[in-house]
This record gives sequence, C-alpha cells and structure tokens, in this order.
Amino acid sequence: MAAVAIATLSLTSVPCKKRLRHGASAFNAQQFINSSSHSYSLTLRPRLPKPRAASRVIVAQAGNGSGSYKVAILGAAGGIGQPLSLLAKMSPLVSALHLYDITNVEGVTADLSHCNTPAQVAGFTGKDALAGCLLGADVVVIPAGVLRKPGMTRDDLFSVNAGIVRDLVAAVADHAPGALVHVISNPVNSTVPIAAEVLKQKGAYDPRRLFGVTTLDVVRANAFVAARKGLPVADVDVPVVGGHAAATILPLLSKARPKAAAAAFTDEEVEELAARIRDAGTEVVEAKAGAGSATLSMAYAAARFLEASLRGLDGHDDVYECAYVQSQVVPELPFFACRVKLGRGGVEEVLASELRGLTDYEARELEDLKPRLKASIDKGIAYVQQNQEAALN
Ligand SMILES: NC(=O)c1ccc[n+]([C@@H]2O[C@H](COP(=O)([O-])OP(=O)(O)OC[C@H]3O[C@@H](n4cnc5c(N)ncnc54)[C@H](O)[C@@H]3O)[C@@H](O)[C@H]2O)c1
Repeated sequence: MAAVAIATLSLTSVPCKKRLRHGASAFNAQQFINSSSHSYSLTLRPRLPKPRAASRVIVAQAGNGSGSYKVAILGAAGGIGQPLSLLAKMSPLVSALHLYDITNVEGVTADLSHCNTPAQVAGFTGKDALAGCLLGADVVVIPAGVLRKPGMTRDDLFSVNAGIVRDLVAAVADHAPGALVHVISNPVNSTVPIAAEVLKQKGAYDPRRLFGVTTLDVVRANAFVAARKGLPVADVDVPVVGGHAAATILPLLSKARPKAAAAAFTDEEVEELAARIRDAGTEVVEAKAGAGSATLSMAYAAARFLEASLRGLDGHDDVYECAYVQSQVVPELPFFACRVKLGRGGVEEVLASELRGLTDYEARELEDLKPRLKASIDKGIAYVQQNQEAALN
C-alpha cells in the first residue's frame, strides 16, 4: 500500500473539490490516490493497452468519449518538449503520442517508448515526416522554436519563432485541420495571431480550436499565493488574464479562491505578487544563467492544459482553464487570455464575467496592457500578411 501512496500520479484536471469548479485544474500527484477512475499508478501494473495493428500510425477517434486520443508534439526533443512528452506518455487519455523535432527525436522516442504506459510513441523528423506525424491528431502541441537567454524579452524571439510557428501551423492545416492547436512558442501574444492568420489562409480556422498556452502564469500565481498565504496549494486558484509577456500578464488576485484569501490581500501584497508572477519567467531565465528558460514548470503547465483539453474532448462538462484565445471580451483586443470552458469542440464559452467588478488597480493595469497587447497582435497579423504579399510578388 505504501507504494501506491507514493507513486500514484494523476494527470487529470478533474476538480477534486466542488469549490475548485472554476479552477478545475488540480493537476496534483497526491489528490487522486485510490479515488479517481483516471488515476494512473506508476508502480502498480498499468492497464494493458488494447491489442493494436502493427502499423506505427495509430488514428484515434476525436471527441468520441472513448478516453483515447492522439497527441502530436512539435519540438518534442527540446527543453519543454521532453518533459512534456513524458507527462503526455503518462496520461491515461493519450493512446498515441507522436513526437516531431528537427533533431534528436529518435533518442527521445526510444527512451520514452520504454515506459510501460499504454500510449504508443512514434518519432518523426524532417519536413517530409510532418504529415505522418500529424495525420489524425486530436491535439497538436507546439513548443518548437528558440528560447530566451538572459537579457532577452519574449518579443526578441519573434524573428525566428514566427517563421517556425507559421510553417508548422500550415502543416497542421493541411494534415490535421480538425485538431486543437496549443501554441507554446514565444512570443505567444504574436505567435497565436500568426497561427490564426495561417489557418485562415488555408481555410482551416476555427477560433474555438486555437489556444495560446498561458497555463504557466496560472500555475505560478497559484504557487506564489499559496506560499505567501500559507494555504494548501490545491485550494488556490488565481485567474490570470491578458497576454503572456511581462506587463500584459494580469493576475486577478481579487478573483482568487479561496475568497477569504483574496479579501485579505493588502495593496502592497497585490503589487508584489503581480510583479513576481509577471517576472517569474525572467526569474528562471536568470537562475539558469544562459542554460535555458522555464522547461519543467512549463511542461507541467502544458500537460495540465493538454489534460484539460482532452477531458473537454472526452465530453466532461466541468473543464475550465485560462488560455489566450480569440474573443470579444475586450473589444479592441481580438486575442485575450481569459478563463474558458473547454468541451468537445474546444472553447465552448469565454467567461467574460471574470472581467467584471475589477479593483481599481486591476482596471488600471488592464487599460495599461491593452496597447502593448494590441501591438503584439498586430505584429503577428502583419507578419503573415507581408509574407503572403511577398509570395505573390
Ligand atoms: N508559453 C509559455 O508559457 C512558455 C514558457 C516557457 C517557454 N516558452 C517558449 O517555448 C519555446 C521552447 O522552449 P524550450 O525551452 O523547449 O526551447 P528548446 O530550444 O530547448 O527546444 C526547442 C525545440 O524546438 C525544436 N525546433 C526548432 N525548430 C523546429 C522546427 N522547425 N520544427 C520542429 N522543431 C523545431 C528544437 O530542435 C528544439 O528541440 C520557446 O519559444 C520558449 O520561449 C513558452
């Protein structure tokens, strides 16, 4: 029994307590011990996979409530890609895991395939293999690109990552047009509008299916608030809205749960916590001193968002996460991170209500971030349009 208690790791975002309904994302190793049908034990004998055909390409049915989905990770051999692939391999909702990278994907695939969990792993490298990687994918996660070094902003990554995201999303439009697309590559504020424009050009854009992954901002906010207030971290849920770059990240501490904690923040605490949440990525970049940016916490956050999306596809009706999506909650900003309800079609609802009743501080910060976020969105859209014009001339 001791082994069960130590090793049971759940990747589900089932709300473990009713009051977490709006933060239905308790991605936690301890909470589901012996309690959830989705829990997965590392030390107990795993559930055996159903017998499969010999082919390496396994096509799962989307949104069929089968609990069996195909996930493709593009950039799978990178700092985020590798731990994210491991977490996806451990998910009971993933039956097929396709890993794509321009380097080292064979090693990662061989390594992961030795984990005795049901998801079948296949590796793909080189442009010609991209179609096979994407075929039939229910969710495509994109952490491909270059990362920040000390002194760089996320926007400094634009020149390289814009092209990478554009090309990968074009392939998604061609080979997995119905998939949910999770964009991790920075600057998310611009790469998501780039992805949207590419999908539009290809006639494959469904705004409900395109997401910028901002879960790490929520994960950090929850961790920092729990530590500051001495609360069990599983009880804490802080919505984070806006965008995913420095001053565009806006944690809504007045809307945090538990409500008693939200009410007890002093003005100084609000400002300190907001500053730390915004700069947390830089905290990691500087601590790693040139060796990378956030990878482990990002992989954890991406896996939490992946699991939430899969649960939505699987027909669960209690799945809520913050994500950077197309919406009209702030009319002048076509993309905005906000809490959304996830379902079989992707985004089922954008919870605009969270932006009502803001404190003066939050309302001011929201006004401040609007022009910055708008500029990043416009930069992404212009990039794709200029590329299209250049291609036509
Ligand atoms: N959304 C977030 O909250 C968040 C948080 C942290 C980092 N990031 C971003 O995620 C990205 C990846 O970070 P990382 O630490 O994993 O970087 P990394 O350099 O360790 O890994 C990137 C991987 O992408 C691969 N790659 C590059 N071009 C590719 C292409 N055309 N097709 C397929 N794969 C390609 C590389 O070979 C590498 O394996 C960066 O842009 C980083 O800024 C986002």
